Amino acid sequence: MSGKEWTKSAWRSYPARQQPAWPDLALYEQVLRDMSELPPLVFAGEVRTLREQLAEAGEGKAFVLQCGDCAEDFSRCTGPAIREMLKVILQMSVVLAYAGERRVVKIGRMAGQYAKPRSSDTELVDGVELPSYRGDMVNSPEPTAEARTPDPRRMQEGYFRAAATLNLVRAFTRGGYAALDHVREWHRQSLDALPTVEKYEQLAREIGKTINFMTAIGLDSNNPIMGQVTLFTSHEALLLGYEEAMTRRDSTTGDWYDCSAHMLWIGDRTRQADGAHVEFLRGVRNPVGIKVGPAHEIDDIKRLVHILNPANEPGRLTLITRFGTDKIGRFLPPLVKEIQREGFKVVWSCDPMHGNTYQNDFGQKSRNFGDILGEIRKFFDVHHAEGSVAGGVHLELTGDNVTECTGGGRQLLDEHLGQNYQTTCDPRLNAEQSVELAFELAGLFRGSN
Ligand code: PEP
Ligand code: CO
Repeated sequence: MSGKEWTKSAWRSYPARQQPAWPDLALYEQVLRDMSELPPLVFAGEVRTLREQLAEAGEGKAFVLQCGDCAEDFSRCTGPAIREMLKVILQMSVVLAYAGERRVVKIGRMAGQYAKPRSSDTELVDGVELPSYRGDMVNSPEPTAEARTPDPRRMQEGYFRAAATLNLVRAFTRGGYAALDHVREWHRQSLDALPTVEKYEQLAREIGKTINFMTAIGLDSNNPIMGQVTLFTSHEALLLGYEEAMTRRDSTTGDWYDCSAHMLWIGDRTRQADGAHVEFLRGVRNPVGIKVGPAHEIDDIKRLVHILNPANEPGRLTLITRFGTDKIGRFLPPLVKEIQREGFKVVWSCDPMHGNTYQNDFGQKSRNFGDILGEIRKFFDVHHAEGSVAGGVHLELTGDNVTECTGGGRQLLDEHLGQNYQTTCDPRLNAEQSVELAFELAGLFRGSN
């Protein structure tokens, strides 16, 4: 595969898992043709900047915070929802940058995370077999045959909602909302409300004092250092028609970029070395993440790394491991050893969400804060022991006050989750649990600095 000449549509002759059964293929192709004329969402120069920053993360000079919804919801493409998501990401990143003394590369699962792999093509609802919900870019979650029928026009709707999201993100991150003195104030508010506030007070005070000091020496919010940040976007490159339609040739370098997002990842279910997803992604210059779960074979991962990054360029590949807190100790060390032995340059990132999902007695999917933190702790321990770099985390979270994951400072229990269980897909950390996790991570950084 890797020797053949690449084109943006060559993936079409490879087996592609997890694609919707579009009922009207002519309409599907028409939508994709229309979309390929629309402006790109990101441009190649930004993507190159992200690659450089990821290369730094691979060497331990930066830390990746990749996070956002499991599945973005069209109806949550609103000013307040985007603002609250950004707020929590900024709060977390300041804590991590301070404690880790390195740049935090902020990558949202945002502005395009609208398509989901599913374990089954159909599900039974009240005895009726319906197509599974595959994300808002494909169908709608309501359990009716009509809502669940894949409609390609939803991809175009997804593009416009991604554009609207990104527009507001760019405005907030450049226009003063992200100023550090706001973050100081947000920390005060979040921690005041948290029952476990004493644990984090000292660090929050130090951060506040540092921001005060910077302001005192003249770095006020008019200064770009204090007032502006960069948030990159990412999503799972699942719907290959959509990704193909968004792929453009960069006029300065002649290289191909998938301009639907800065970074794309391939899920644990679609990363077959001889499959369509890998064939498509090998030809675009974006940074690519590969999810790696317990069912992987080390030789397959090595093959993938070779196909997707034949020149072994730093910043191109991120291996996002998602084993679960009870399995990471068994699976991560041999994988790290082999990748190190081969001399492959990768960024190691920990997804402590997807290996720790359980179904509670009320039929809800949940994850426990302690398990999430437990997997992250072990991730750091393993990389420390192997002499490799723990380069980042990949989290599912929201700025909203949902009750989807148990534990955390409020010690949410399964029986509390009904209070505000909103997700259409996987359970997310709420804003408070997310900030708390950042403070816990800060403790890990400090222990290892
Ligand atoms: C996800 O990130 O939402 C996801 C489906 O992950 P994975 O491919 O690791 O299961
Ligand atoms: Co998920």
